[in-house]
Amino acid sequence: MLKENSLVDKVILVTGGGSGLGKSMVKYFLELGANVVITSRREEVLNDVAKEFNSKYESEVFPIACDVRKINEVENVINESFKKFGKIDCLVNNAAGNFISPTERLSTRAFDAVIDIVLKGTINFTLTLGKRWIKDKSEGNILNIVTTYSWTGSGYVVPSACAKAGVLSMTRSLAVEWAKYKIRSNAIAPGPFPTKGAWDRLLPGDLKDKLDLSKKVPVGRVGEHQELSNLAAYLLSDYSSYINGEVITIDGAEWLKGAGQFNHLEIITDQMWDMFEMMRKKK
Ligand code: HXC
Ligand code: NAP
Repeated sequence: MLKENSLVDKVILVTGGGSGLGKSMVKYFLELGANVVITSRREEVLNDVAKEFNSKYESEVFPIACDVRKINEVENVINESFKKFGKIDCLVNNAAGNFISPTERLSTRAFDAVIDIVLKGTINFTLTLGKRWIKDKSEGNILNIVTTYSWTGSGYVVPSACAKAGVLSMTRSLAVEWAKYKIRSNAIAPGPFPTKGAWDRLLPGDLKDKLDLSKKVPVGRVGEHQELSNLAAYLLSDYSSYINGEVITIDGAEWLKGAGQFNHLEIITDQMWDMFEMMRKKK
């Protein structure tokens, strides 16, 4: 979508950059000329991605493992990235943990697992890197990947809904507070984009075959990874420099379909509408 070299000279750190949507975004950032740091817990996954992309693109992927919940590991990723590239321009908080469950079946440790990855992990990276940007008087750009239920809430994924709501609130709060340091902060709220990580946990067993998520989406399909990567690249590029504190939904109007009180009237056929019209005119 963007012009060649739109992200050239930028260093972008992507948490959860070794799989799913993270990996797709990383690929596009490289194509547009950025150097990218990828981090997550599974070192071998990161190394494989680095090997694959470093043989294809001129710009470089730097893989470094960490658990976003552990502040010493987060600090290490940031220090090593500065040693490697001399700077970090953009942070994409994309790592997440999630699963479906009736809330009353969850242990407090299950709640912690998700909150600690999604909310605490995002705080760990944002605060550590933000402090460094402020100290160095460097500009910064934060992009948080949330969900559409960050503002509606959702049953059966309550830890994730609570955590993503917190991330959205942090996005908007810091957009204002840190604007004076030339650090901007935005979010993307994706609808359904098939990934192994999400589908295995949110549609376990034969739910994958029973629930066709594309049926919930007014445009009649799920998202394509490149569509999300286009939006992410734009928000990290200088073309979007006046966008700050925004959350951009990319879901084919899925969440609005659930919200509009009469949207289910799509079940009414043309014949029925004709009949209603005749009845109205008779009156
Ligand atoms: C209930 C569960 C559970 C499940 C784990 N737990 N899975 N409880 N249902 N399906 C409980 C465990 O029993 C344990 O509690 C506690 O959670 C911690 O479990 P661990 O396995 O030790 O956790 P950990 O190894 O830290 O793994 C974290 C994880 C895992 C979140 C549980 O799924 C993971 O690593 N996920 C990362 C990738 C991911 O989730 N990707 C999907 C993102 S999709 P007890 O009390 O027994 O000790 C997404 C999309 C949203 O966010 C929108 C889609 C449209
Ligand atoms: P995914 O492939 O499972 O991505 C999650 C990533 O987070 C993985 O790379 C995982 O790597 C990493 N991660 C998990 N726990 C971590 C931890 N403690 N420390 C460091 N990294 C950790 O799923 P995805 O679908 O691409 O999700 C990407 C983002 O999009 C998430 O924020 C998700 O909430 C959001 N989202 C996705 C959808 C969708 O339909 N797919 C919809 C809305 C929002 P490791 O296992 O190696 O740690």
